[in-house]
Amino acid sequence: MKPPKAVFVCQECGAQSPKWMGRCNDCGAWNSLVEERVADAGPAAAGNSRYAQFSTTSAAKLYAEVETAQGVRLSTGIDEFDRVLGGGVVPGSLVLLGGEPGIGKSTLLLQADAHFAREIGPVLYASGEESEHQIKSRGDRLGVGAAPLYLLAETCIERILEEEARLKPALVIVDSVQTVWSSKFQSAPGSIGQVREAATQFLFAAKGQNVPTVLVGHVTKDGNLAGPKVLEHVVDTVLYFEGERHHAHRVVRAVKNRFGAVSELGVFEMTGTGLRPVPNPSQLFLSERASGTPGSAVLCCVEGSRPILVEVQALVSTSTYGNARRMAIGIDQNRLSLLLAVLEKRAGLSLAGDDVYVNIAGGMTIDEPAADLSVVAAVASSVRNKGLAPSTALFGEVGLSGEIRGIPQAALRVREAAQMGFTRIVLPSANLEGSGDGKIELVGVRTVGEALDELIA
Ligand code: TYD
Ligand code: MG
Repeated sequence: MKPPKAVFVCQECGAQSPKWMGRCNDCGAWNSLVEERVADAGPAAAGNSRYAQFSTTSAAKLYAEVETAQGVRLSTGIDEFDRVLGGGVVPGSLVLLGGEPGIGKSTLLLQADAHFAREIGPVLYASGEESEHQIKSRGDRLGVGAAPLYLLAETCIERILEEEARLKPALVIVDSVQTVWSSKFQSAPGSIGQVREAATQFLFAAKGQNVPTVLVGHVTKDGNLAGPKVLEHVVDTVLYFEGERHHAHRVVRAVKNRFGAVSELGVFEMTGTGLRPVPNPSQLFLSERASGTPGSAVLCCVEGSRPILVEVQALVSTSTYGNARRMAIGIDQNRLSLLLAVLEKRAGLSLAGDDVYVNIAGGMTIDEPAADLSVVAAVASSVRNKGLAPSTALFGEVGLSGEIRGIPQAALRVREAAQMGFTRIVLPSANLEGSGDGKIELVGVRTVGEALDELIA
């Protein structure tokens, strides 16, 4: 028998090399190559391939003859979670739930499992991180109760798949993909080879047996899933769990979804008895707003299909040390620099000797350009030390020549603001048409100067 073949795999990008190198040729990462031995699988003839059982022998089908499984969605019993999944779990789909350790991934899945097991069918929860006792004691707190929920403290992929074949569950959870390993590789769990193998094997199992499978993935400090992004293109849906450890609320966001809208958002609150869905996030994000204070603006943003009102805060203070600081939390730092430059050049504000801090209250992250106008307004309001009217909300993109550009889904934003009791909206004049309902006052603006005149008279 030939000795096992060794390959060196970059743990950052997944590139392979026959010999060790100090620096990956593909992505340029230093010291990222790790030896992985592949057990000899014999001649790689199609019949012998370990993936052969999953390949179908059927001929190509005519598009018109393919039957659609219309709208089959399995509800997890948690509205906010169903929403990010695009209306529920699709049978046979592979979902990846990523997030920092301790953010609440296992908690959410255990809560969803309890409902799933009661209403739809047995659930297999394979955990490589906690023992059955630990899961059970958490489950008691979450009120799991009597449900056909099978716990399996196991890290070997083949063993988990055996149990899956035996139990024929309606849903499989693997917590987490970084702790499981396949006997076909000799590298440690969590290495790129093992993670990729786990995703592939669970993918085939999910598609082959039409069982939805959820993989939990830990996010590294720099925000990548298990270092490499190898998993994201394998799975059907990628969900990220976000939130600050010091805030009680958590946001689950879809960043890829083959069966629904992306950037769809579910909002939860962490309580003593698990995660509680927050059906009205605008209320949550605005709850602690001190209305009328300088440096605060209310923004109507849209995440996926959902409008949410958030408070944008800015503080401008004289810089005591040579270098003026610019700090942004919740929005892109570069975008802030750009907006400050526009304010200086087009609105005549002098900020050269000032520190500028911008924060999205409540720990939300916003990457929509529609947030521009609210950032500009909050900064200007802080500079002039004059508050915006508390009943005014705003949105709009700011261009480099100081123009306010139209943005999508204006009517949706206006409606949400009206529902939250706002009576006046400052928006791009390009969005004026068709946005209002006659009851709410809409003020269209074309330039930053015009907007500031309207907002901070
Ligand atoms: P967990 O789901 O274990 O995180 P992950 O699986 O993402 O690593 O969440 C653990 C955190 O949640 C922990 O810090 C305690 C907190 N928590 C509550 O506040 N209330 C609860 O009812 C539970 C179960 C956990
Ligand atoms: Mg966990």
